[in-house]
Amino acid sequence: MEPMTHEPSKTPSASAVVSRHLLMPQHANPRGTAFGGTIMAWMDTVAGMAAERHCGRDVVTVGIDSLAFKQPIRIGDQVVLKASVNYVSRTSMEVGVQVTRENPHTGEKCVATTAHLTFVALDEEGCPVPAPSLTPETADEKRRYAHALQRVRQRKERLKAETQAHND
Ligand SMILES: CC(C)(COP(=O)(O)OP(=O)(O)OC[C@H]1O[C@@H](n2cnc3c(N)ncnc32)[C@H](O)[C@@H]1OP(=O)(O)O)[C@@H](O)C(=O)NCCC(=O)NCCS
Repeated sequence: MEPMTHEPSKTPSASAVVSRHLLMPQHANPRGTAFGGTIMAWMDTVAGMAAERHCGRDVVTVGIDSLAFKQPIRIGDQVVLKASVNYVSRTSMEVGVQVTRENPHTGEKCVATTAHLTFVALDEEGCPVPAPSLTPETADEKRRYAHALQRVRQRKERLKAETQAHND
């Protein structure tokens, strides 16, 4: 197994990404609320940008967990996506994304969607390569890091069990 990278550790805020979209009719379902696939594509993009900024390499999505559509987003709402790296394992990085819907007329805002996405850093040949470690600084970053560590452990256990069952 390739050793951990010797690149300097980075903070979550060094790679965090925020983006804002206007929900247009082409992003909606026939009910006039956001089509889930569009929101997922925006989440994948913003999370991938954070992962890429963290490792300074190409990345690919390997998993999306705990995706929750909590509130509908309507045509005309502004959609703010915030992504930051929660945890770095070896070659994989868990990125948390929070999507907030904002009504630009009233200023009302609420969290509409959340998810955890896992990306793998790739070398020039497209093989997994170690990513720089992560140093959480703020209380929020430390809490997210601790929770992500638990999820990463559970995810690895689940993947191992699934691979085992597949091979049986
Ligand atoms: C990324 C890829 C090259 C990794 O190859 P691999 O043989 O799975 O490599 P590994 O088994 O060494 O796994 C690499 C890392 O990903 C993690 N991983 C693999 N599958 C995962 C999953 N479903 N969820 C979370 N983490 C996962 C492993 O735990 C490992 O993490 P670590 O190095 O931090 O410990 C390969 O899985 C791939 O090409 N997947 C397709 C990616 C893609 O096309 N994405 C676009 C979305 S459609």
